[in-house]
Amino acid sequence: MPHQDDDTIDALERALRESPDNVPLLRHLADSLAGAERFDEAERYYRDALRLSSDDDDLRLALARCYVAHDKLDHAAVIVDLLVGRERPLAAALLLRSELALYEGELRKASAAYRRAIELDPGLANSEIAERLGPGAGEDAGDDLIEARIRLVAEDDEDDEDDGLGQVEVERPTITFADVGGMQDVKDEISIKVIQPLAHPELFKAYGKSVGGGVLMYGPPGCGKTHLARATAGEANVRFLSVGIHDVLDMWLGNSEKNLHTLFDRARRNAPCVLFFDEVDALAARRSDASKGARHVINQFLAELDGVQSSNEGVLVLAATNSPWYLDGAFRRPGRFDRVVFVPPPDAAARAAILRVLLAGKPVESFDVARLARKAEGFSGADLKGLVDVAIEEKLREALKRGAPTPLTEKGLSQAAKKVRPTIRDWFATARNHVLFANQGGVYDDVAEYMGL
Ligand SMILES: Nc1ncnc2c1ncn2[C@@H]1O[C@H](COP(=O)(O)OP(=O)(O)O)[C@@H](O)[C@H]1O
Ligand SMILES: [Mg+2]
Repeated sequence: MPHQDDDTIDALERALRESPDNVPLLRHLADSLAGAERFDEAERYYRDALRLSSDDDDLRLALARCYVAHDKLDHAAVIVDLLVGRERPLAAALLLRSELALYEGELRKASAAYRRAIELDPGLANSEIAERLGPGAGEDAGDDLIEARIRLVAEDDEDDEDDGLGQVEVERPTITFADVGGMQDVKDEISIKVIQPLAHPELFKAYGKSVGGGVLMYGPPGCGKTHLARATAGEANVRFLSVGIHDVLDMWLGNSEKNLHTLFDRARRNAPCVLFFDEVDALAARRSDASKGARHVINQFLAELDGVQSSNEGVLVLAATNSPWYLDGAFRRPGRFDRVVFVPPPDAAARAAILRVLLAGKPVESFDVARLARKAEGFSGADLKGLVDVAIEEKLREALKRGAPTPLTEKGLSQAAKKVRPTIRDWFATARNHVLFANQGGVYDDVAEYMGL
């Protein structure tokens, strides 16, 4: 813990002895303690402050946030439900309600709360939540969209021909590891666990190893997890079934256990294949946090992974998540997601490789890509893609004015880099708590090492 925090906290405690009923001071101290992850003390001071200033909803919200950080989600939910029930609820409370509902796997509730939050305060729009809720979550059409999905699922149920998983297509990806910049460690891990067993099944059998089991990738958003999953199927030259958050939503709303079983069966029929669960935390939440219905789905997912009813031979399961801490520990048992791989943000060499991939086939003057990559410190793969998009837009505007296209330049790309805000810092701020306080069995050792903890 940084000394600066401790000094601030000491000073605040001294000040409080002089002025024990000072609510702003109590609040400030509680915030500092929460920031230093001394949650028990923080919670005590928040409650002291609330006793003195009992109608301060902002203070209540701060306490709720502290409970969330402390993993006391039930405590947080009680406060947040109270706050959103107000005649004029705080927008930030609605946002927190939405986040909590997401953890609970309650997508409709999450979507409704999120929409109300950004209606009240558009500044609260949060791309990570919006992405987890799916398209339309931030718009007025949100409810209609969800209603439409329910109708869709209901209709599918009536239709014997359709297995209710119309959206999970069987793909034949054309991209391979060559299209994934950097990430050598992760590629090696996946190669050993996924690609080699598919290429040499007899060899693996000879050593008594069955071809199956899964790899869970986790890390900050936009650093290539989804991209790599698709490239894995391309590299192994096998079929690819990708299950995204929308398909999962359909599963929650429809006959979920049956749908999950149908999905695994489809993968088994298409073996050898890669079955990929994107944003898997939506499907594999901790059972203690989950509602009863969700617990059934989670148990079914575990049973399918174990191949209880049918063999998963030749089905390689990959999964990705930005929030591995919300996953039920049971998923990490042998034969399930027994390899947990941290996908770090790209280093300078990986950024250069990503930039080369992104610029390939585009008109570009020749320049030192490595120099640009060094400047783009802290950029994720997605941020780099954003950077290139911004530079291209600028060129298009210029070309329309002049009537003649000119190639992308190092200068144009460097300027674009200044306009793009890197997005991964927030993730590491969240990860820090979990790495420090919930690193059971050392699952997050790779992140800890990366963060220098
Ligand atoms: N290592 C990489 N090589 C090439 N492109 C990348 C890489 N990492 C990310 N990207 C680009 O960034 C986009 C976002 O990455 P994505 O795989 O969706 O990240 P994640 O699933 O980790 O959130 C991808 O579509 C891809 O274009
Ligand atoms: Mg992704």
